[in-house]
Amino acid sequence: MLDKDTKILILGARGMLARDLVNIFCGYNIILWDIEDIDITDKNQVDLKIGELRPDIIINCAAYTAVDDCEKEVDKATLINGIAVGYLAEAAKRNNGILVQLSTDYVFDGKNKNGYIEHSQEFWPQSVYGASKLLGEKALARLDNYYLIRTSWLYGKNGKNFVDTITKLAKEKKELKVINDQFGKPTYTVDLAKQILYILNNDLPFGIYHITNETRKGGITWYNFAKKICKLQKLKVRIKPCSTKEYPLPAKRPSHSALINTKLPKMRKWQKALKECIKNK
Ligand SMILES: NC(=O)c1ccc[n+]([C@@H]2O[C@H](COP(=O)([O-])OP(=O)(O)OC[C@H]3O[C@@H](n4cnc5c(N)ncnc54)[C@H](OP(=O)(O)O)[C@@H]3O)[C@@H](O)[C@H]2O)c1
Repeated sequence: MLDKDTKILILGARGMLARDLVNIFCGYNIILWDIEDIDITDKNQVDLKIGELRPDIIINCAAYTAVDDCEKEVDKATLINGIAVGYLAEAAKRNNGILVQLSTDYVFDGKNKNGYIEHSQEFWPQSVYGASKLLGEKALARLDNYYLIRTSWLYGKNGKNFVDTITKLAKEKKELKVINDQFGKPTYTVDLAKQILYILNNDLPFGIYHITNETRKGGITWYNFAKKICKLQKLKVRIKPCSTKEYPLPAKRPSHSALINTKLPKMRKWQKALKECIKNK
């Protein structure tokens, strides 16, 4: 159970998820650091600053999240998303703290149409980003007190995301083509932040958790997601389904990556969460 004295350090504090964590954890003793305060890839800085602060909990939202750019910047992605997580794990362990690490559905191979449970071993990242995040997951083995939280298709008020991209394009164009053969689960940052608070407040067992909004079994496609984004805003654009082959991107995405949650209370349906996000934009 968190109390007002529990010292909670949020890293990557300017990012999309972190900014909603700040709202949801308001009233708790949170410390916000982004790259100007600590570069998580600098081991000396991590050891020194975390050693001085001695946080009870570190929530690591710092990451290199530009999935396509990671293909060109393999070393940078590996360092931020992979190796640096090991530095944080060691620092947390030294101070007897808890590390909450965020990860992604992109660590999986994408072949399982039913989706992936928390302890699935069907890893086969299709991209540099996915591989770098998997390296970060493995680095958690250096401590016992961790929560590994996988999430997917994240969107919110404060960051570059699919909802904003589709909204912008729909206002500029008459017709959009959107991929209809990749399946996953959209997740609203506010709901994810609330679920992280729930885990910490209830002292749930350490380990792996999957947090997404609810969809039908196996997930929805980007096309389904885009249709709903436009419908909710009454945007008059024609949306045509297309295949991954018709819309090539530098990074390969898994075709099926629905995360299955077997441990936590279910979150609300994706359509409801999306409606609230759009209303609050
Ligand atoms: N976005 C998604 O769709 C998605 C899906 C699944 C999982 N996730 C995971 O969820 C977490 C949060 O994602 P997000 O989209 O909220 O991230 P985000 O908006 O990209 O924020 C990441 C933050 O980390 C900072 N940062 C980058 N390198 C750093 C370094 N070396 N040291 C300290 N800070 C650094 C960034 O600063 P700069 O902006 O200056 O680089 C940025 O403020 C990440 O672990 C991500 O992998 C995201």
